[in-house]
Amino acid sequence: MFVKEHVSFREFSVRLLHCPVMAKIAFLECSKCSARLSADEPRTICPQDSGSLYVRYDLDALRGRFKREMLAGRVASMWRYAEVLPGAERVSLGEGLTPMLRSRQYPNVLIKDEGLNPTGTFKARGLCAAVTMARFYGLKKLAIPSAGNAASALAAYAAVAGIEAHIFMPRDVPRANLVECRTYGAHVTLVDGLISDCAHMVAERKDAEGWFDISTLKEPFRVEGKKTMGYEVAEQMGWELPDAIIYPTGGGVGLIGMWKAFEEMEALGWIGKQWPRMVAVQASGCAPIIKAWDEGKVISDVWPHAETLAAGLRVPKAYADYLILDILRKSRGTAIAVTDDEIMDALRTWATHEGIFAAPEGAAALAAYRRLLANGFFKPEQKVVLFNTGSGLKYIDVIAAAEKKSPERRAIGGIIGPY
Ligand SMILES: Cc1ncc(COP(=O)(O)O)c(C=O)c1O
Ligand SMILES: [Zn+2]
Repeated sequence: MFVKEHVSFREFSVRLLHCPVMAKIAFLECSKCSARLSADEPRTICPQDSGSLYVRYDLDALRGRFKREMLAGRVASMWRYAEVLPGAERVSLGEGLTPMLRSRQYPNVLIKDEGLNPTGTFKARGLCAAVTMARFYGLKKLAIPSAGNAASALAAYAAVAGIEAHIFMPRDVPRANLVECRTYGAHVTLVDGLISDCAHMVAERKDAEGWFDISTLKEPFRVEGKKTMGYEVAEQMGWELPDAIIYPTGGGVGLIGMWKAFEEMEALGWIGKQWPRMVAVQASGCAPIIKAWDEGKVISDVWPHAETLAAGLRVPKAYADYLILDILRKSRGTAIAVTDDEIMDALRTWATHEGIFAAPEGAAALAAYRRLLANGFFKPEQKVVLFNTGSGLKYIDVIAAAEKKSPERRAIGGIIGPY
């Protein structure tokens, strides 16, 4: 076991006893060259080719020993899948096992409501796992470039773990993210630019500052947290996977994570070979994955002048775009862009018909479903899971501003008052 901080022998023994992580993680595997690296020390990307690293367990040994029936009565959080998660002492706030709601509008649609996570978005899952491992490795300072929600989640988990959080976000980030991060005690830098500019700043300064870079897909454990969404979809649907999953895609952590979950569940003997078609939705003002998909490319180009009210989708180039595009292809899925107007319309529909106050990114999933139903990609009888990735409460300023701009909404009396 590799622990960077200085710990007493007693503390070391206690950690060994409670953290059987090295027994469980077989190795880290590069998603490009398949090189195997040890998980004994904190790692970011493959030293050979900068590929994102996957965490691998000995699933053959778990097959037959880790059974679906064992989940009954377990903790109501993502940690119910402990055998396929790092075994370090958890830094948990109760993340995961979010509701799977049957749509009132479309009988075969299910809505996975991630807005009920700690800090109000699905980002809690990934950052929970990443901070858990950061504490295990004895890391003291974490840095993150973020569109906003990952920053809030890091700030919360870092506060609990007693780790410094250094956050870089666009200056025009939704207000809640800024207020949350500051309240959690994080070090916040607002950047005149996008998440890509924030990432450059972290990369430039991390060595001098002693920060560990916890960026999307440059740190292996965020995928581990997010993959639990795939396990939950399967468990909550009685192990009958849906025909498709629509996922609002920025960096693509959840999409990559869920696909990994399907691979693992198949290896465990929990599911068969029929997996959902994966659908990536982006905003038309920032749709690098959709463009690459339409052009049949295996990587994306940087999207110039990215602009959308769905802040989490304002990612001009996903670090692991090659993995996202590969999964869309393997799953016979698709990629689709929707406009901000469609997003706002879907957001209102979810609120008025389903009682769900969604994040704009989540509402994009409904907008995509509507389009794909209209163009015949989906039949109404097909089971489709839409991910609402966060709560609209994180976007009060953004949603209020969009409503104010809408002449139609102003005409019906301004439901949101004098903003
Ligand atoms: C609410 C919300 N939905 C979706 C996304 C995109 O997530 P991913 O990076 O997993 O593609 C983000 C990212 O910031 C987000 O905050
Ligand atoms: Zn590699």
